[in-house]
Amino acid sequence: MVQTKMFTLLIILDGKKIREMKRAKFTFLLSILILSCSRNSNFNTSDNEIHAKVDSLISIMTLKEKIGQTIMYSGDWDVTGPVVSSNNMKLLRDGNLGAMFNVFSAKKTKELQKIAVEETRLGIPLLFGYDVIHGFKTIFPINLGHAASWDIEDINKSARIAAEEASSEGLHWTFAPMLDIGRDPRWGRISECAGEDVFLTNEIAKAYVNGFQGEDLSKHNTILSCAKHFVGYGAAQAGRDYHTVNMGEDELRNVYLPPFKAAVDAGVESFMTAFNELNGIPATGNNYIFRDILRHEWGFNGFVVTDYTAINELVPHGFAEDEKHAAELAIKAGIDLDMMSGAYKSYLEKLVSEGKIDVGLINDACRRILTAKYKLGLFEDPYKYSDEERENKTIYKSEYLEAARKSAAMSSVLLKNDDNALPLLKNETIALIGPLVKDKENIIGNWAAAGDRNGKAISIYDGIKSYLNDTNILYAKGCDIEINDKSGFSEAISKAKKADKIVLVMGENYHMSGEAASRTNIKIPGIQTELIKSLRKEVPNKQIILILMNGRPLDLSTEELITDAILEAWFPGTCGGYGIADVLFGKYNPSAKLPITFPRSIGQVPIYYNVKNTGRPIPLDNPKEDYKSNYIDSPNTPLYPFGHGLSYTNFNYSDIILSTNNIGINDTLTVSVNIKNTGNFDGHEIAQLYIHDKVASNTRPIKELKGFKKIFIKKGKDKIVEFQLTTDNLKFFNGNEYIVEPGEFEIAISGTSDFNFSNTFELKM
Ligand code: NOJ
Repeated sequence: MVQTKMFTLLIILDGKKIREMKRAKFTFLLSILILSCSRNSNFNTSDNEIHAKVDSLISIMTLKEKIGQTIMYSGDWDVTGPVVSSNNMKLLRDGNLGAMFNVFSAKKTKELQKIAVEETRLGIPLLFGYDVIHGFKTIFPINLGHAASWDIEDINKSARIAAEEASSEGLHWTFAPMLDIGRDPRWGRISECAGEDVFLTNEIAKAYVNGFQGEDLSKHNTILSCAKHFVGYGAAQAGRDYHTVNMGEDELRNVYLPPFKAAVDAGVESFMTAFNELNGIPATGNNYIFRDILRHEWGFNGFVVTDYTAINELVPHGFAEDEKHAAELAIKAGIDLDMMSGAYKSYLEKLVSEGKIDVGLINDACRRILTAKYKLGLFEDPYKYSDEERENKTIYKSEYLEAARKSAAMSSVLLKNDDNALPLLKNETIALIGPLVKDKENIIGNWAAAGDRNGKAISIYDGIKSYLNDTNILYAKGCDIEINDKSGFSEAISKAKKADKIVLVMGENYHMSGEAASRTNIKIPGIQTELIKSLRKEVPNKQIILILMNGRPLDLSTEELITDAILEAWFPGTCGGYGIADVLFGKYNPSAKLPITFPRSIGQVPIYYNVKNTGRPIPLDNPKEDYKSNYIDSPNTPLYPFGHGLSYTNFNYSDIILSTNNIGINDTLTVSVNIKNTGNFDGHEIAQLYIHDKVASNTRPIKELKGFKKIFIKKGKDKIVEFQLTTDNLKFFNGNEYIVEPGEFEIAISGTSDFNFSNTFELKM
């Protein structure tokens, strides 16, 4: 290691650079480097040591070099927004580029890093970022799907694997996790979030951050994570991407901020700005959320990156006069790194010389970015992430593929299963029909990083084939996802007539969710439902099992009536075909529960389980009563509620016991329930703890999730599941502050959010 340092030193001492450096500064730098060389090989440098090093480095940087650290451009491998022309290589060679994204592979990153380290005056290493969202090469279920597993350990493991793979290809930083609460299925990016609930998203936030960052960032297999998009992006009006967000402080603090706070508490190293405006102020120029809340209230010390061209976008937002003004607003709001806009590159120097911004703002931004590079150990060994040998050994390791298979199984939600249509039997002949049966492209979903869409993934067909003989599979595509051509219907019907059961694989294509993929129609696209109707009509006596791939809650009201079973597979990832087949054949008994509500129709949106009661709630025994908060043409209830998910067995909840019915402010309430597996399969159940604060100075939702546990119970056996509730769990933001108020609370443990409370306790203060 010391040798590497000496090597770095020699590189930096190279001729031209020495001449360019003023003697005093050079001596200073030399002393820093010598100091660093004499350290032992472990880079367990304390924060104070890192700060001292960063300050020393900053003291010898020119303003242009410091601004350079605040600039990030994309390589030309991936495009996730408008292309902004930039002369990246010149910037890099001149030492005026701090970070790059959309570039990976050990070879390519090493090549670019070499330029940063060997050809620039100070040899400051580049930071390489990328959207490693639900896996890097080995792709796990889309985030919304993985959230349905409610399996925090498994989600953490997927992030760890993603970090192993990504870091071996030279990446230091992922733009994940996305922690936006999603309550509007029209919004395409709902596929990237953990669903509608705050508590579940908080837990998942920690799992991702810890998984990506590990315990020691200076290790070669850990990467920085990034909490995005700060804040309110999921509340875009009408589910239209990038749209306006207006929300009160209570909703902001009770619903949209907590997952980000959870990420800060878990030690997340970076934040990304949201594209949206929040109450009139676009996030990327928003002092209140970045300076007041993130930095001052929460004490966040990491760095903040903009979203793609988000500084430029302050102009069309109508917040900045021009891009120069936009750069001024963004740096003043505490935004450190400019992704793609070019505004920092073009205007920060001018803004300083005109006295419009203090150079201290640039020092701060630069300091935070350099600190991250030090924490990663890049100054010690800039190439340690770009290791071709490790890359070859790491990518698509069989244990990673096996883990992805398990995650796919754990994430698929059995929405309905009449007359035990599932599991399938190995001696049955099935008609396997639908445009996604043999798909290897869509199955890995949107934002699938460097995942392979050209044949690596296991299709549902492949998965089923591993359980059934070829002769027992009668395949017909039937129709396309979006094209309205019914010419394949007759083949599908004739195959269905010869089979014991009809298994359909249908849904959206992967482009229909993710960024810029909002829909006004959330039904299964094209004529796929027409095909199901024809099958139901022409082959009336056979069970129809629908396997769905999609990136959002869909309106399945029609399918609910004409199918026997529905398995929500989401986009299950590289080994999705195997994982889903494991569920279909009962090797894995489905255990996933919806992390998001499935509406009956688009007209119910937004619909989520923890709504407020209103002054005219509908009576349970007469939901249609006039002048109550209901629809005249639809029930209020969703088709499938949050927390819903069936198993091949049944779980019976009984004997809920509260340790006390009265608690004080410092007390802990223990609540337990007996869960019995009364069916014929062993299985996992996800027990959910809900409360309802009946009266509060700021009204509370009718149900709030406050805990969950995934437990395994053998058939015929039972288990006592216990939760601890503290008064911290009862806190809410009342408009001014987080408080807990005395009074009566309802409490329940259930396998779904669709239940009625029957127990209470009182908080006395
Ligand atoms: C835009 C997306 O909003 C963001 O989530 C992503 O990280 C960046 N593009 C970079 O690709």
